[in-house]
Amino acid sequence: MQRTEPQNYLIQGIDPIQLTEQFGSPLYVYDGGTIRRKVAELLHAFAGINMKIKYACKANTNLAVLKLMREIGVELDVVSPGELEMGKLAGYNASQITFTPSGVPFEEVREAVETGAIVNVDSLPLLEWFGQTYGNTKPCLIRIKPNVAAGGNIKIMTAHADSKFGISVLLLDQILEVVKKYDIKIIGLHQHTGSDIKDAEPFLKVADILFETAKHFPHLEIIDLGGGFKVSYLPGDAITDMDLLGEKISERFKTFCKEYGRELQLWFEPGKFLVSESGYLLVKTTVVKEDPARNFVHVDSGLNHLIRPMMYGSYHHILNLSNPDGALKSYNVVGYICETDTFASDRELPEVRKDDILAFLNAGAYGFTMSSNYNARLRPAEVLIDNGQARLVRRRETLEDLLQTQLGM
Ligand code: LLP
Repeated sequence: MQRTEPQNYLIQGIDPIQLTEQFGSPLYVYDGGTIRRKVAELLHAFAGINMKIKYACKANTNLAVLKLMREIGVELDVVSPGELEMGKLAGYNASQITFTPSGVPFEEVREAVETGAIVNVDSLPLLEWFGQTYGNTKPCLIRIKPNVAAGGNIKIMTAHADSKFGISVLLLDQILEVVKKYDIKIIGLHQHTGSDIKDAEPFLKVADILFETAKHFPHLEIIDLGGGFKVSYLPGDAITDMDLLGEKISERFKTFCKEYGRELQLWFEPGKFLVSESGYLLVKTTVVKEDPARNFVHVDSGLNHLIRPMMYGSYHHILNLSNPDGALKSYNVVGYICETDTFASDRELPEVRKDDILAFLNAGAYGFTMSSNYNARLRPAEVLIDNGQARLVRRRETLEDLLQTQLGM
């Protein structure tokens, strides 16, 4: 969103306030142009090697977003049968989809394999089951836990020794034993370090661990380094330097392929990097309360729509679209849920009045997909703006939607 004139924030030339008038509030809005730009940035950074993007769609599963990804050559990483189904509905062939489960019932793995998706096996018991069930008839990747701690906060670090994800690299002997026992066709090694990783260093460290581990698997085709690139939540925030990362990883990857004796594919599974910046949660202010301790701004939304600030203490920049030139005042921006759902504390905003429209930035990743019906509240509608056109891509929920699974009457 660029600020063109003092009064005007526009997304591809479209006034977001007008979108709330047309589609109601609260409203998720995604800028398809930003998604295209982020994909291009990533491809550019790794242009010198055989790199594939597997979008971690847990970040945003709107079918229009998935379709856009498919149209621009991005493949998919899914974590559940539901995401797998959404990928197929968006037009993906199952062979373009990787299933990265985390301790799921093995039946879900069977479903994914039988549909043609490739699985990242994340535990020794699953590897054993995979071998017993498929022998060498189906390929899979192994999710390694490299025991590297990196990420924005402990809740989103997934590769340290205490993390539940993957098979510890220290168990390599046991992995090899099971692989040998069933002659399992291991075509790749996978790992995901965590989210919000700024520096190249952790990525290089885990890449080296996977390259080293790869020497024990003679038939690999893929090294998958996961996602986790840091995006800018705060204006001016330091983010992952993709060109630098691309240069460093590509160099090591080329050396590794030479030593390994074969051209492999390098996969990344970004979520945030591709969609965070594209999204806005537009809300309307319901009550402005001047309390002796604080000024509170309540909005027609809460942790049921955007839980990141409450769950991780995440910063989301807020714009007052209705009064951009107002005098700055300090506010606690809070939701309408009966919990302390504080979006922002002591935030300076241009003076906020009742019925102003505020925009939460960076709401494209882990916004709607982490939403809930807590307090029997309904989920917002979603709009995608692409090629200058705004399109409703999810209708607002209704009370009927909420009640349709209730059988207690
Ligand atoms: N690959 C795997 C196996 C993952 O588990 C994840 C994220 C990704 C890729 C994508 O990571 P990203 O590029 O989006 O950082 N809800 C949290 C983030 C949790 C991420 C979970 N796994 C947040 O809103 O910060």
